[in-house]
Formats: sequence, C-alpha cells, structure tokens
Amino acid sequence: MSEDLHEPVLPGPGASDYERYLRTDELLSLQKDPEERVHHDELLFQTVHQSSELWLKLATTEVDEAAGHMERGELAPAIRLLRRAVLSLQYVTTQLEMLNQMSPWEYSEIRVVLGHGSGFDSPGFRRVPAVTQRVSQAFERALQRAGLSLVELYQQGREHEDLYQVAELLTEWDERIWVWRFRHYAVVARALGEETIGTQGTPVQVLGKLIAQRQIPKLWEVRSRLVELFDAERKGSAA
Ligand code: HEM
Repeated sequence: MSEDLHEPVLPGPGASDYERYLRTDELLSLQKDPEERVHHDELLFQTVHQSSELWLKLATTEVDEAAGHMERGELAPAIRLLRRAVLSLQYVTTQLEMLNQMSPWEYSEIRVVLGHGSGFDSPGFRRVPAVTQRVSQAFERALQRAGLSLVELYQQGREHEDLYQVAELLTEWDERIWVWRFRHYAVVARALGEETIGTQGTPVQVLGKLIAQRQIPKLWEVRSRLVELFDAERKGSAA
C-alpha cells in the first residue's frame, strides 16, 4: 500500500507536518487576541517587532558564525554568511515602513500598554555590538596573516579578492545598521514627534545622534586615507 503523503509523520502538536515543524500553533499564539488588543493596530505593531527579532536572531547568528570561520582562515564560507546577515538587516529596515501606516493619535493608545518597554532592550539589537566586535577582530587578524594594512587591501583588492569581499561586507553590515537607525528615527519622529521623551526616558532627539555612530570606524576612516593618498600621489607625479 502506498504511503499517504498528507498524513503527518513528525511528532508534536499540529494537524500537519507543516504546522508541527514550524510550530505555527505556538508562533501564532504569540500575538494578542483581538479581545486583548487596546487598538486594532496592535497586531501590526507586534508583527513588525516580533519578525524583526527573528531576522535579527538570524543576522547575529550568521555574523558570529562568520567570525568563527574567519578565525580559522576560512574566508569563503564567512562571505556567504555575511551576505545573509546584511540581507536580514535590509528586511528589518524595509518593514519599518509598515509602522508609518499607524496614525500618531491612535498609536498613543498602544503606547500606554507598552509599560517601560523600549527598543534598547531588544534582544536582537543587544547582540549586534558583541558579534560585530568579534567579526571585526577576526578581520583584523586575517589582515595581519595576509601581511596587509587596510589601506593596502583596498589598493590591491584584486589580488586579495576574498579578503576584499569580507571588508566590503563588513562595511555594508555597518552601513545597514546606520541606515536602519536613520529609518527608525524617521518612523519615531512620525509617530511621536522629535520633542517627545520615550517610554524608558530617552528623548527622541538622542536617537538622531546615534545615527552618526559607526560600529567599525576603521572601515570608514580608510576611505578618507585613500582619497588623501591618491591626491598626494597625483600631486607628486604632477610636480
Ligand atoms: C512606532 C514604532 C516605534 C516607535 C514609536 C519607537 C520608539 C522608540 C523610542 C522612543 C526609542 C528610545 C528609547 C525609549 O523608548 O525611551 C526607541 C529605541 C529603539 N527602538 Fe524603537 N520604536 C519603534 C519601532 C521599533 C522597531 C520595529 C524596532 C525593531 C526591533 C525598534 C528597535 C529599537 C531599538 C534597537 C532602539 C534603541 C536605539 C538604537 O539602538 O538606535 N523600534 N524606539
């Protein structure tokens, strides 16, 4: 007799293997029921935040794993994982747009039920500095092993393709954090205004200042050095 492919074979709750594997019962019970919501838009608000946490979990896991590869001198698998991490940050940024669908007046109703909840306590974002530091140090050591300074890597990028790709992906990782902060600031300004104090006491304007922060400053400084060097060489050869 042939096997019924519609019958679930995996253990656990759920009517199908799809529901059992993905644990959709649990996942879909993590949002407030309609009767618990103080406003219809709470589902939108929870969906954006919860899915951001999932993408950030993936992003930071992949950056951490990439750092491990780089510590062992394995650049190609690190590149594959860093690409995913960067893409995850892109998704987290894009979905911020959904929050602009809420009216600022109606959002005030949701704000009341957030308690002292603040994005500063986002587990996903809290993991970002630690994994960024680990991957940045692994990159530093990879440069040392290759006997290159960062300036030399950028000048001779074609001869050290994998290392160059890592440098550019780390730059993009940093850039995506900065772009997320910029988009988040704009969303917050639309929902709350720029003169408001956040649920944990942070003035919204402080968020604006965080946009200027860089996670791996040397990747940005090197670009200025390259311009200086190029200009100095051009002046030298013209003299
Ligand atoms: C209407 C939507 C949102 C509003 C009004 C809002 C508001 C705020 C405010 C006021 C702060 C300052 C801290 C405080 O609460 O006192 C903050 C910080 C933060 N929020 Fe949001 N937020 C929103 C959406 C999001 C989303 C979707 C995420 C994604 C997880 C997020 C993550 C963060 C993070 C990580 C911080 C720390 C600041 C930083 O590292 O730049 N927020 N938010």
